[in-house]
Amino acid sequence: MEPVITFPSADAIPAEARIDASPYASRWLCNGEIRTWDGPSQDVLSPICTRGMDGALQQAVVGRSPLLDGAAALEALAAAKAAWAEGRGAWPTMRVAGRINALERFAVAMRGRREEVVRLLMWEIGKARKDAETEFDRTVQYIGDTVDALKELDRSSARFVMEEGFLGQIRRSPLGVVLCMGPFNYPLNETFTTLIPALVMGNTVVSKLPKYGGLAQVPLFEALRDCFPPGVVNVIQGDGATTVGPIMTSGEVDVLAFIGTSRVANILKRQHPRPNRLRSITGLEAKNPAVVLPDADLEVAVRECVSGALSFNGQRCTAIKLILLHRSIADAFVARFAAAVDALPAGMPWEAGVKLTPLPEAGKAEWLQAFVDDAVAKGARVVNAGGRATGTFYRPAVVYPVAPGMRLYGEEQFGPVVPIAVFEEDGEIDHFMRESEYGQQIALFGQDRARLAGLVDALVNQVARINLNSQCRRGPDTFPFTGRKDSAEGTLSVSDALRAFSIRTVVTTTATDEHKRQVSDIVTGRLSRWLSTDFIF
Ligand code: G3H
Repeated sequence: MEPVITFPSADAIPAEARIDASPYASRWLCNGEIRTWDGPSQDVLSPICTRGMDGALQQAVVGRSPLLDGAAALEALAAAKAAWAEGRGAWPTMRVAGRINALERFAVAMRGRREEVVRLLMWEIGKARKDAETEFDRTVQYIGDTVDALKELDRSSARFVMEEGFLGQIRRSPLGVVLCMGPFNYPLNETFTTLIPALVMGNTVVSKLPKYGGLAQVPLFEALRDCFPPGVVNVIQGDGATTVGPIMTSGEVDVLAFIGTSRVANILKRQHPRPNRLRSITGLEAKNPAVVLPDADLEVAVRECVSGALSFNGQRCTAIKLILLHRSIADAFVARFAAAVDALPAGMPWEAGVKLTPLPEAGKAEWLQAFVDDAVAKGARVVNAGGRATGTFYRPAVVYPVAPGMRLYGEEQFGPVVPIAVFEEDGEIDHFMRESEYGQQIALFGQDRARLAGLVDALVNQVARINLNSQCRRGPDTFPFTGRKDSAEGTLSVSDALRAFSIRTVVTTTATDEHKRQVSDIVTGRLSRWLSTDFIF
């Protein structure tokens, strides 16, 4: 059978896509030092295969990543703990202006490493160049937006309040040591959307890089080392159980910021010996449906569903992972949708206009095929020219009609398989969401205002975002990003994240004249860093 993608020979890779990752081999960051691990390490395999002389496909080796042991992980934790120093360290007690200054210097240094990071994202996780550039730029933008949000927060908390005879000042204070763990699909952006707010609020951090996509952060180690005091940011790599296990069981982590599966989140949280001391901010699985009503503009619905289901090959927690069609338009939608999916250009991440690329996770094509086989065995069909693999590439399968009892109906596939089911009554949509393990988002396509309004009212207490005539997504990053049930804990917008990584703290007194004079003397004499009316403009 004809291959579904053409992998290049090694010498056919253009110069502007190549990368020498040897400077990033086996690096980790601990206590202000970039270290090279001389213990066990492993090849970083690219999803991009090259074709050898004999025609056989082989995954390219991009570099080597360190397999740190538990002792090294605990050393990183000890560095973060020392920098925290029970809240008395230089970083947690630094004025907001100082922390913002460090962050702004970091953003400038980060910009200078853009091309290296983009190339690593292409090679490590198969992200198309345009998407990799967007991930990088969006992350730099997130840093700027975080600075603006913090200035606003600082301005509003510089005011004193008088309430029921009490004079008080309420500010946000850091929480302590944060363990940040980002996912492979947005190894830079999703790691930084927890790392950056955690840092700027005055916490200290151990960041564990994801299994795939870890190298892409190594070019930023120098900037992390140079812009923050020693021990404030520590970055480890290696097997999760070996490294993160000891960190969690130590009981020294105050905040877990984890983007991944609920299974792993639950393991990590249970490892903490004093769970009441642990705050968790998580982004987990989702099974976001797109609902197409009888009067939907099919051109809009097809376009948004193709992009929503298959951007970055469907490897997004916000991806549309089930399409629910009203029976009256099902045939028309399925035909147009299948044709649109088959027209998506597949290729290497550096090729202009490419939409589908190879998948980084080991065994992913087989894993996806098992979902398809289960549905087909129970009566569905693959209705497009997809559902076939070549090496690490899986041509998207559109599977129809999917029904309850098939894995694709309720489980998250996190890849290029698009299940389509049919409904007749709007109540079935609400029922689907109520039965689902997840509650992140839904997309509704239709024009009848009253019908859309009815669905919105039925669904607002089931999901955290309803998208009208547009696909599910995270952005804009100032919007709340969260979910119900097994989809998330806490909220991660630019401003919400600042709150998630801090605690409101109040200094107050009964407002007698003498007490007011005391506070006034402290403020006007600039005797306290915290109790102050200074703020950043
Ligand atoms: O994987 C989850 C990401 O946060 C999705 O973000 O909707 O911007 O692709 P996105």
